[in-house]
Amino acid sequence: MMPEETGQQTAGEAARKPAAPAAGTTDRGPDAESPSPQPPGPPPHVNPLTPNVARMYDYFLGGNNSYPIDRETAERVLTQFPTLRIITRENRHTLIRVVQYLAAEEGVRQFIDIGSGLPTQRNVHEAAREVAPGARTVYVDYDPVVCLQAEALLADDPLTGVIEADLRDPDGILQHPVTSQLIDFERPVAVLLMAILHFIPDSDDPQGAVSRLVERLAPGSYLALSHASQEQQRDAGAREAAGEYRRATAQMVFRSRDQVTEFFRGLQFVEPGLVGIADWRNPEPPSAENATALLDTGFIGVARKA
Ligand SMILES: C[S@@+](CC[C@H](N)C(=O)[O-])C[C@H]1O[C@@H](n2cnc3c(N)ncnc32)[C@H](O)[C@@H]1O
Repeated sequence: MMPEETGQQTAGEAARKPAAPAAGTTDRGPDAESPSPQPPGPPPHVNPLTPNVARMYDYFLGGNNSYPIDRETAERVLTQFPTLRIITRENRHTLIRVVQYLAAEEGVRQFIDIGSGLPTQRNVHEAAREVAPGARTVYVDYDPVVCLQAEALLADDPLTGVIEADLRDPDGILQHPVTSQLIDFERPVAVLLMAILHFIPDSDDPQGAVSRLVERLAPGSYLALSHASQEQQRDAGAREAAGEYRRATAQMVFRSRDQVTEFFRGLQFVEPGLVGIADWRNPEPPSAENATALLDTGFIGVARKA
């Protein structure tokens, strides 16, 4: 496949939504001091009165692409569960380590990053290309603002694409023209589901979506995912914090280690298996204090399709 066939125009069309506000225009948001309980007007992802999980995540990471309602909700979450800032940053660092491991050690050259989030930090395509300059990346998110911003960042990049799509509709991702143009499913692909599945309740069949994606992959492909957990429900603050997501664009679903393991059904874990968010091949493990705070708050695993 030629780089010029990579469908940037289509990606741009897919990501362009006239109703979406420009990303990062926090000054355009109405005063969130007086949020309405029933925000009128735009759909939740572009409504400046609805806490948005992508923008809250960006705030936890230290980014500045958020509305007041996102920052206020994020601050309430952090008051109840301060460890979340550490978790979020460790999760992002782990994502980069996973991508570079897969590119450098396993020779993966194709990445589908689903639930990619706002592209304000070091991103998957950058991390992959530091190791493998020709690596291709498809970013997928159901948030139109995320997609707009990703599209703006990647407009001139023939090896990347952006799709506005929902993980709950895996065929919509697999059959999207941008995916077809960038990804060769006859060759290994890494599907990245970092910090997304805990926004999908069992009633929406997240297992079915993961299985469908994996089914499409060639042998030698990989699934990497991280997931929030309250294995022993030991932290009341974390449960309270999760409650803050009730009014947000997505709600939090904690899953146990066994439930997270189940997403890797039929795959072979890469060492060290399913581990704590900061513990996956980390040359700079967290301090003892942070390690204690992080214990059982989330899991990360990478597994290979035989
Ligand atoms: C917490 S961020 C994670 C960002 C990035 N994957 C990371 O780990 O650094 C979760 C992202 O998943 C997206 N998301 C949540 N549910 C989704 C769904 N059903 N389909 C596609 N994207 C989804 C949100 O819009 C948000 O951008």
